Amino acid sequence: MLSRKDNEYLTRVGPGTPCGKLLRRYWHPVAAASELTEERPKKRVKILGEELVLYRDGKGGYGLLAEHCSHRAASLYYGFVEDGCIRCAYHGWLYDKEGKCLEQPFESNPRFRKSIRHAAYPVEKLAGLLFAYLGPRDKKPLLPRWDILVWDHGVRKLQIRGLLNCNWLQAEENTADFVHTFFLHGQMSTRLRLPDDVSFYTRPFSRYGFQPCPWGIIKTWEFEGEKAGRGWGNFVLFPNMLRQTDTLSTLHWRVPIDDYSTKIFHVGFKASPDGRRVEQPDEPPLDYEKPWVDENGEYHLRNFSSQDGMAWETQGRLYDRSKEHLGQSDRGILMFRKMLRDQIRIVEKGGDPMALVWAAKDNISIDLEALTSPREAHAGATANAYDGPRRPPKEIFDERCEEFEVPIGSARPK
Ligand code: FES
Ligand SMILES: [Fe+2]
Repeated sequence: MLSRKDNEYLTRVGPGTPCGKLLRRYWHPVAAASELTEERPKKRVKILGEELVLYRDGKGGYGLLAEHCSHRAASLYYGFVEDGCIRCAYHGWLYDKEGKCLEQPFESNPRFRKSIRHAAYPVEKLAGLLFAYLGPRDKKPLLPRWDILVWDHGVRKLQIRGLLNCNWLQAEENTADFVHTFFLHGQMSTRLRLPDDVSFYTRPFSRYGFQPCPWGIIKTWEFEGEKAGRGWGNFVLFPNMLRQTDTLSTLHWRVPIDDYSTKIFHVGFKASPDGRRVEQPDEPPLDYEKPWVDENGEYHLRNFSSQDGMAWETQGRLYDRSKEHLGQSDRGILMFRKMLRDQIRIVEKGGDPMALVWAAKDNISIDLEALTSPREAHAGATANAYDGPRRPPKEIFDERCEEFEVPIGSARPK
């Protein structure tokens, strides 16, 4: 349970808010590069409560400017891209990618032009996604080169999911909610008689746990029955990501659009069976997920996204955590909230939060699978590690690890 004040502290993302300041210290995806074309070089994007215009500068780069003109707020989305800059269509003020105002066609005092500082943010492209950094320029870390974004021994796919009508933390807390898969995905899919094989998710649960690490939290699991297995390796990547390493190699970003909506960017990687190198397209295929609701506006629950979307959105646009009743199975959520609170405090005191990358030598490929799988870092996985071998527990777990037994009952039949 959180007090109302604490709930606000951990969830609000706008400029100047404590959590907003923390989240601005990380790079976040804002679009797929293929969404901008020569014919349509501009796109409106909203992130962390800020309305922005993303554009192709015509020179192979990208710009990201506050959408509303510093003059009298007309949208720069309707402006003209000129030599890497945007000219407002209303009175012609011209802005460069740094937010400098280069021209005010109807003004004669050059000092006025120089006094304008239009909000502008850096953009970098990686694996066909465009990432933005909205934090202080002098504290800009490197854009993390996560393993599956840079590996070339398989194929990558991008997916952008429908707008989630709730605060980002509801989606991210789910990442630290290990046991939800049993009922929400396994049981739901079985009861709806969906064609997908969900036997992985209906295995009787016997144990689950959480180990903090420099990138966030490593989850642990143990199942009984026919497909029994013990493993560890899925990550709650701080601050707003999920990295799956069990059945699939995926990365999910839960990007806060504002306090009440979230956009999920998803990258999936499938290794070639023999680990063979695959020629990479400049922009991996992109699809948009189909709606989570049916023609009556109800969640159809026919895939994991609709199931998760139902759980997260029905908690409320900004879930009031002062009314919750947390138990043992929510310990991962408590661990994550503590991490979030601690990191917000570090930023408030002027420090650098965790899980940032500063040196190019540490950023060739951040091999998360090698942290928990017994192979050389950067060697790449040759197959998705379905309950595959893991590094020995003593290399992974320390005294901060919390593990719990599931009682005999409906999630763990005798
Ligand atoms: S509102 Fe943009 S130039 Fe006037
Ligand atoms: Fe889920």
